[in-house]
Amino acid sequence: MSSVYLFASGKGGVGKSTVTANLAAVLARAGRKVVLIDADIGLRSQDSFLGLEDRVVYDLVDVARGRCLLSQALLPHPDMPALRMLPAAQFSRARDLDPKKLHKIIGLLRRDYDIILIDCPAGIERGLRNVLNAGADETVLIVTADDLCLRDAEKTCALISEKKLPKPWLIVNRLRNDMIHDGLMYSARTAADVLDLPLLGEIPEDEAVTVAQLKHALFIDFACESREALIRIAGRMGGASVPFPSYGTRKTSFFRRHFPQKVKESLLRDIHLAPAVTRSSPDPKSKSPSETAESTEVDAE
Ligand SMILES: Nc1ncnc2c1ncn2[C@@H]1O[C@H](COP(=O)(O)OP(=O)(O)O)[C@@H](O)[C@H]1O
Ligand SMILES: [Mg+2]
Repeated sequence: MSSVYLFASGKGGVGKSTVTANLAAVLARAGRKVVLIDADIGLRSQDSFLGLEDRVVYDLVDVARGRCLLSQALLPHPDMPALRMLPAAQFSRARDLDPKKLHKIIGLLRRDYDIILIDCPAGIERGLRNVLNAGADETVLIVTADDLCLRDAEKTCALISEKKLPKPWLIVNRLRNDMIHDGLMYSARTAADVLDLPLLGEIPEDEAVTVAQLKHALFIDFACESREALIRIAGRMGGASVPFPSYGTRKTSFFRRHFPQKVKESLLRDIHLAPAVTRSSPDPKSKSPSETAESTEVDAE
């Protein structure tokens, strides 16, 4: 059974494309057949994140308009045979994509792939609305832990609920221990409470992410904390109970700060992704399987 995950934000620049590209790679390396759809029409970025810029010939709008076959537009990743990317059109607008056609494309992809990740455009305009009508199984909201971002995320949440899609999971990105300690930035837990969303993951602000982007590489190929964070997220998506590091909410020892404990690589093997494992219907009261564990296992890292 395939699962379609939609990644949205509200505010732009919070790390949606960065996170979805790297997550797609983690899942593909874990043995899942993955398609990453870049749905940010006019502002495509996934070709760059995956180092596929030179290979784009056809795009999502070409497929939707019948200018090519779906198979012609799906770009295989040279190093990850299980990963395909469907690029966004760079010179089109959101209105050029018929949501019914997108729905159909996703239906076709479901037949051959285990996981379909959709990288949404920022904002709450037509670009996002198109994708919200395309039939996702799960929604994920990515935010940074500040008032402005949370305010915008609330609007996106309202739109998601209006479309009767499942209540989003939350990923809080670019967390800084020092700023949370100083009360400048919210913790991931506080952000989740403010938005009343189940927490799927927390990712630290990480120089490795910047370096990877400058090199047109994936940060999961660097030994860094964000890589560990993504492996945890993939594990939770598969229903595993993975503790949260809870950045900034407790003092970390010198040793932990400098030698962060590695996530068990075996998690990568244990990932079994299916939304049914975590939630099959839009039940606003449902909790992530890892949420229960989180309150008791928060000190495990
Ligand atoms: N955890 C992180 N640490 C440091 N930089 C990050 C992190 N996540 C994202 N970024 C940076 O933030 C910028 C915006 O990311 P992007 O994925 O393009 O955002 P969006 O798709 O939400 O607009 C990029 O320069 C990216 O490298
Ligand atoms: Mg983006």
